[in-house]
Amino acid sequence: MAKKFQAIKGVRDILPPDSALWNWFEETTRGVFESYGFHEIRLPIFEQTELFARSVGEDTDIVSKEMYTFPDRSGTESLTLRPEATASVVRAYIEHGMHTWPGLVKLYYVGPMFRRERPQKGRYRQFYQIGAEVLGQSDHPAIDAELMEMLAVLLGECRIERWTLLVNSIGCSNCRPKYVEKLRHALESVKSKMCADCQRRAETNPLRVLDCKVEADQPIIAKLPVITDHLDEPCREHFEEFQRQLRLREISYTLTPRLVRGLDYYMRTTFEITSPVLGAQNALVGGGRYDGLTELLGGPPAKGFGFALGEDRFIDAIKDAGKVDASLPLDVYIAWIGAATYPAAVKLARRLREDRFTVELPPEEIKLKKSIGVADKLNARYSLILGEDELAAKKFTLRRMSDGEQKQLSEIELMDYLKADRQRSAVNK
Ligand code: HAM
Repeated sequence: MAKKFQAIKGVRDILPPDSALWNWFEETTRGVFESYGFHEIRLPIFEQTELFARSVGEDTDIVSKEMYTFPDRSGTESLTLRPEATASVVRAYIEHGMHTWPGLVKLYYVGPMFRRERPQKGRYRQFYQIGAEVLGQSDHPAIDAELMEMLAVLLGECRIERWTLLVNSIGCSNCRPKYVEKLRHALESVKSKMCADCQRRAETNPLRVLDCKVEADQPIIAKLPVITDHLDEPCREHFEEFQRQLRLREISYTLTPRLVRGLDYYMRTTFEITSPVLGAQNALVGGGRYDGLTELLGGPPAKGFGFALGEDRFIDAIKDAGKVDASLPLDVYIAWIGAATYPAAVKLARRLREDRFTVELPPEEIKLKKSIGVADKLNARYSLILGEDELAAKKFTLRRMSDGEQKQLSEIELMDYLKADRQRSAVNK
């Protein structure tokens, strides 16, 4: 027997009708982001490995153990399937001299990312993000807060009600090292009671200890010094203004001093949006400020702020809320009977589709009774019966599938009727 193939672990197909909900979500997100002045950037799926190593950080889980990396066939270059896209946006910003563009550069992207994590509910090895990045000369906290507002609007459009915005500031290269030293010192006396990962991180990257998810470590972590008590004056002011801007926009938030995030490029504002409906992988969105990343990647100085949302997780949350109906209904099933009616059925199907009705035209003749059964299974709103009598009278029989009511209509009457019906059901939605 020939070998059967399956999608590889942690990677999946997205099938209809789910794909209709994905499309609805992407269109809705584009609409909201564009209303805030963002424009789409289309980025490559793979980049030089070094781009991610330098920006995300050699020491992070993503770079040290999760990337799909392979030598280019030339043997001279190492390439990586992108685990995230902020690095690519910043690379493109530098490569295309976007610092000369007027005002702030506001870009969004949609697409798959790749991380070799342990697959579980809400965590995949190929997953999808929609991200937004603001780059330019201003680091005003209003930028950070406006993006939180944009996300709140999107969550509202998706009718997701159960979510929490967690915010923190992780300071800058002036105040953070002093805090990290304090943390390292505090960890000296307690690290032996912590998990193996924390013991290692206490040496290599003490901030990461705060991110530990091991239950038994939590009481110890709760007693460690917090970064927000160690911010320097400009960072403290930035964080306070950010919070004032959130209150001005009536966005509730939870201060979470342990929110350090798993990528190295952040400074000052970091945030996540979580939802209790998602289970263990509860982060819907993550992001923060990354002033200076352009310089780290060899470009001119610039400030940056952005986030990426996890589409896979948004779709789960939308389904859980159960208030969005994105299924694409079949408007008309054409039941043609008798070979002589087929040419008229073909013409009519095309006419209806030109008006963007969804139409199913069976390729072969099916008996009327069976045809109605098929229309019912396909969830058609109407079936249109076209027999030789109808053809002679230049009339169609339109059958409403919900109650079986039938009407005889000419082509013009039919088009008018279906258009009016479409408008009525759009208003009632
Ligand atoms: P991140 O927190 O690594 O940030 O990912 C952002 C979001 O992507 C997460 O909150 C989650 O919803 C989703 N996500 C991450 N990994 C997976 C996975 N394995 N399976 C399913 N969903 C996942 C970044 O990627 C940064 N580039 C965000 C950013 C943009 N910061 C500034 N600008």
